Amino acid sequence: MVAREFTDLPMKIKLPETGVSEVSRTEELLAKRRSVRRYTERGLTKEVISRFLWAAQGISSGEGLRTAPSAGALYPLEIHAVAGYGNGLEPGIYRYVAEEHALTQEVPGDIREKLARAALSQPMVSKAPVSLVISAVYPRITGKYGKRGIRYADMEAGHAAQNVYLLGVELGIGTCAVGAFNDEEVKKVLKLPANEEPLYILPLSYF
Ligand SMILES: Cc1cc2nc3c(=O)[nH]c(=O)nc-3n(C[C@H](O)[C@H](O)[C@H](O)COP(=O)(O)O)c2cc1C
Repeated sequence: MVAREFTDLPMKIKLPETGVSEVSRTEELLAKRRSVRRYTERGLTKEVISRFLWAAQGISSGEGLRTAPSAGALYPLEIHAVAGYGNGLEPGIYRYVAEEHALTQEVPGDIREKLARAALSQPMVSKAPVSLVISAVYPRITGKYGKRGIRYADMEAGHAAQNVYLLGVELGIGTCAVGAFNDEEVKKVLKLPANEEPLYILPLSYF
């Protein structure tokens, strides 16, 4: 047999079609996941908000491990819920306390317009009844991993956001990962401590 010439490469292998013989629930959710930017005014109940927070960063094991993976299980992420009117929560900014599956109110009042302005006036942020904001406290992870810890924390935000997207498909609630915002402005609006950096805004709404 004659050896293949290098010039023959690359060899293409057609993969079996997906979604034909067997489709898992996960594959269904993945196929339906889209960024949603057209929202309704219907608010979210406390139970629904609780489910999204748990999906993003909730505790899912007796040892305190969470729904999203974390390098060295150091958990540098924080989740804030920004609620407007018409939800099962008073309008305000809340911090998720994963260890207790609880919220602490940090600032009362509807700050969605201010947050939207910090996000280049993207209308999803002012319209969604609730937005989750994922931020990172880098020192929690750079202590062990140095500069690479910053990359790890940023990757973790992607995991958490995907969990939110997929739960949204299940519940008929849309989100759109918003990364275009002014960091300093978002920090100011949310009154974040100096060592906490916002990474993502995830508006949540029925559509
Ligand atoms: C890191 C990142 C930042 C993004 N920032 C924004 C944003 O600021 N505004 C927006 O409307 N969409 C934003 N998106 C959503 C993308 O536009 C969207 O994922 C892309 O168009 C693909 O569409 P799909 O999510 O429906 O598959 C962002 C997505 C990612 C991953």
